[in-house]
Parts: sequence; C-alpha cells; structure tokens
Amino acid sequence: MMIEPVVDIHLDGAWIDQALREDVAQGLTNQPKELPPKWFYDDRGSELFDQITRLPEYYPTRREREILEREVDVIAERSGADTVVELGSGTSEKTRIVLDALAATGWLRRYVPFDNSEATLRTAAAELAEAYKGLAVHGVVGDFEHHLSHIPEGGCRLMMLLGGTIGNFPPAARKDFLAAVADAMVPGDTFLLGFDLVKEHDRLIAAYDDPDGVTAEFNRNVLSVINRRLDADFDLDQFEHEARFDSDQEWIEMWLRSSRPQRVTIGGLGMTVDFDRDERMRTEISAKFRPENIGPELASVGLAMERLWTDAREDYALTLSRMVG
Ligand code: AVJ
Repeated sequence: MMIEPVVDIHLDGAWIDQALREDVAQGLTNQPKELPPKWFYDDRGSELFDQITRLPEYYPTRREREILEREVDVIAERSGADTVVELGSGTSEKTRIVLDALAATGWLRRYVPFDNSEATLRTAAAELAEAYKGLAVHGVVGDFEHHLSHIPEGGCRLMMLLGGTIGNFPPAARKDFLAAVADAMVPGDTFLLGFDLVKEHDRLIAAYDDPDGVTAEFNRNVLSVINRRLDADFDLDQFEHEARFDSDQEWIEMWLRSSRPQRVTIGGLGMTVDFDRDERMRTEISAKFRPENIGPELASVGLAMERLWTDAREDYALTLSRMVG
C-alpha cells in the first residue's frame, strides 16, 4: 500500500524573506561583497543545478553515483538502517540506489528528506512514496543551520549528505554544521558523507565554468532571486561569471564581476549598492578535500569513520561513519 507522505514545514515565505534580507544586507556591505550560495536554489536555480549535474565537465555527480552503486550493499549492511534521512535531498535522484539496497534487506521503513525547497521536496516525496509501497515518507522543509533538531526521531537511521554540499561551508561553519548533524544523531546511527577531492586545477575550474554557460546562468540566478524577493533591480547582463581555485584554502570560488560601474537599488531593504567596474562579488565557495583530513573532522564531533571509498580516478569520496555512544 502506498502511504501518503507527511511534510513538516519550518520555512515559510516570511522566514525565507527575513533570512534573505539579513544575508543580503550583511553580504553587500562586506568588502569584498558576498552572497551565500543557498540562495541559488529557487525553481529556476534548482533546474539549472540539475542541468549542471549532467554537464560532461561536472564530474562529481557521476563519480558519486559510481561509488554508491559499487558500495551500496556494504553501506546498507553496515548501517543496519530502517530509516534514511537525506540532508539536502533535492530531487532525491541518487537516493533510490540506497533505498533499493535497504529495501532488499527487508529493514527499510522510512525515508526522511530534508530540504529548503518545499516544492522540490514535495515532488520528490510523492514520487518516492509512489515508487516504494509501504515506505513512510516524512519530509522536513528546513534550513541546515536552524532546523536539524527537527529531524524525526526513532528507528535506526542512516543520515546522508551527498553531492559535495558539505563543501559550501567555510571551515568554521562546517565544524558547527557537522556538530549539529552529530547532535541530531543517537548512538548506532550512521552518516554517509560525499565530498569532492583536490585535483588538477584545470579540471576543477572546468567543472565550474562550462563552455555552454550553464554554470554562469546558475551563478547569475542569485541576482534574479534577490530581484524578485527583495524588489531589487540587478541587471543580470552586467555581471560576468568567474570561477577560480584558491590553492591556499583549497576551494573553488565563484564570483560575479560587475562589467561597468553601476548602482543597484534593493527596494525591500531601502538600500542602494554601488559596484565599481570589475568589482567582484563572491557567491560560492566549494571546498575540495584531502581524504586523510576527513576522519579527524568527523571524529571531532563524535563520529567514528568506518569506511572511505573513492571512485577509480580518485576524483571524489564517500565516507561512512558511526555515532559512538
Ligand atoms: C551543490 C554545492 C555541491 O559546489 O559543486 C555546482 C554547487 N556550484 N556548480 C558544488 C555548484 C557550481 C555544488 N554543490
């Protein structure tokens, strides 16, 4: 029997507007100007990201799938999970690989997608409830930095954060985030984490600066989100996409460069912002990792790493760790 999905909503339009107002007011008065990457993902941004995952240059999605398909039985077996909690579940595309393996063990009972986009989550929840008869889908619409404590309790849970999303956090925020994930776990729960690895710089850059300009459009989309939600007048044609690799921090940065001097009005904030010609505004960092550093980071929040796998080219890695009691 199909079980109707349940969706808890911790983010309504007013909450989102307020969070965006704070991020924009703060970020556009920083030097250099900065916007957090979570604001890329309105419907259009989610669609563009989906296109990115299919670009030949954007290897992480394919590498992650390769590892998942190869190791999923081990992951299922070691997790012993009846519940899968997926942080940043998006379209839940890769989720099915894990759900299939857990369904085959006979343990699978519940799927908990957690995402900040209600529309995306509802669609994914409905599709999975339909595809897996008897699976209880309990979605949570929330923000990583505020609502992890609302993840439903009970059962033996496999928590997952896939796609390299962990790379969007600067190191200090990453530590806080991992601590909050660990806090939401109980002894015996496991955590499956996917992350991108340091590699040749030209391949890294190519993955964030494709010739068709899909990533450029994704980058500029944050401006149209601000235009719409905060009544601003960013001219998207006057900002150029740039991707660079910071080899000290070992992270990719995406920037928007103002192609001329310009003044932008943000009506919803009663604020004007001036850009110099060639002034750059940072819109994303995407950290790249060295495998040897992940175990200690997980251990620092009480998660014991049990397995680390890479794809054949060693482009990308997955770890399975366990909350110790
Ligand atoms: C969704 C954060 C993993 O950092 O690779 C893709 C986002 N930005 N292309 C990444 C992204 C530009 C992506 N994450």
